[in-house]
Amino acid sequence: MLFDPEPKRSKKDFYDREEELRELLEAMRREKLVVIQGMRRLGKSSLLNVALAEGGLPFLRLDLREIYFTQGSLSRFQLYRALSQELSRLSRTHRLASWLERVRGVRIGGFEVQLDWRERGAPLPELLRALDGWASSRGERVILAIDEAQYLRMAGRTRYDGLLAWAIDNLDHLAFVLTGSQVGLLHDFLGTEEPRSPLYGRYARVLNLRRLSREEALDFLRRGFEEAGVRAPELEEVVDCLDGLIGWLTLYGHTCVSEGRAELERFLRMAAGLAAEESRKVLKGSDRYGVVLRAVAEGATRWSEIYGRVCGRLGPVPRSNLTYLLDNLVRYGYLERLPDGSFTIPDPVIRYMASGKR
Ligand SMILES: Nc1ncnc2c1ncn2[C@@H]1O[C@H](COP(=O)(O)OP(=O)(O)OP(=O)(O)O)[C@@H](O)[C@H]1O
Ligand SMILES: [Mg+2]
Repeated sequence: MLFDPEPKRSKKDFYDREEELRELLEAMRREKLVVIQGMRRLGKSSLLNVALAEGGLPFLRLDLREIYFTQGSLSRFQLYRALSQELSRLSRTHRLASWLERVRGVRIGGFEVQLDWRERGAPLPELLRALDGWASSRGERVILAIDEAQYLRMAGRTRYDGLLAWAIDNLDHLAFVLTGSQVGLLHDFLGTEEPRSPLYGRYARVLNLRRLSREEALDFLRRGFEEAGVRAPELEEVVDCLDGLIGWLTLYGHTCVSEGRAELERFLRMAAGLAAEESRKVLKGSDRYGVVLRAVAEGATRWSEIYGRVCGRLGPVPRSNLTYLLDNLVRYGYLERLPDGSFTIPDPVIRYMASGKR
């Protein structure tokens, strides 16, 4: 169903994106490092999932946001557990046990693969080398897909960027596909342009996901309502309001169909509530983020205008503090910095949330 609110997994539920899908499938076969980036709810996970399903290559997929938010951190234990589950899944359909059991700290019982996560447990480089060897013996690649890869930065002492760089340089049958919604943080993690970073200079094929055009957004909604057998409400104003962000359009369609109510204002309040809950988890460092976002939502776009409004609300604030807050809001994807240096809120629901209309 087009309006299913979960990330799509199958092409039959996946609207268009033919070009991006073709590009990703090709990159997965050719490149060692592929990055799908774009703000939240553009359909990165769906594109990744559908490409993995269509690509016909064996893959491991880790959803780091799920781990990070359910556990509040990305510990070695959690990561190893997710990897064990994926290896178990893979070993149900592929014969890789004989390759994995050579690695220290790997226990295999039936189709269950268990990695010893302790410090002296299963070493990831050896594990990746075993996967690479297995893929090489089959004459094909194995894909390591990491959804929301920027959370690898939060992984305590372990430096996963170094591991990635090593694997890219040494393992020819392994390819990485990463996604990231906090594009600034993803770049910080990858550091492909930062000379001190282990991944410096490595080539990454970057796919920038775009919004749907107005026509596509209208077409998507029409098809979704048709598929659900529900008469579509006035769609022009929905697209005026939610723009081409397929995630919000999907949630709107899903809400209309499941609740039988189509009021846009009501939907916006609900969506803004959702966004506010998410932002509390992401922007937990300071209450001032909300004040800065509100200033932008109310029409301040230049640094000095935003500064004026923030000081108006909070009293004098160090200038460096505002710069710090703005930089972080850009890194986390809540704000975009335009080429002329001004700021905008790219997501209409965040704009609504920040304006305090809720
Ligand atoms: N091409 C598509 N066709 C149909 N529905 C889609 C498509 N792309 C995304 N969606 C829907 O939009 C919503 C957001 O998609 P998805 O989770 O894939 O985006 P995302 O960019 O990974 O978002 P996030 O940054 O929040 O992780 C989901 O409800 C998904 O089902
Ligand atoms: Mg996603």
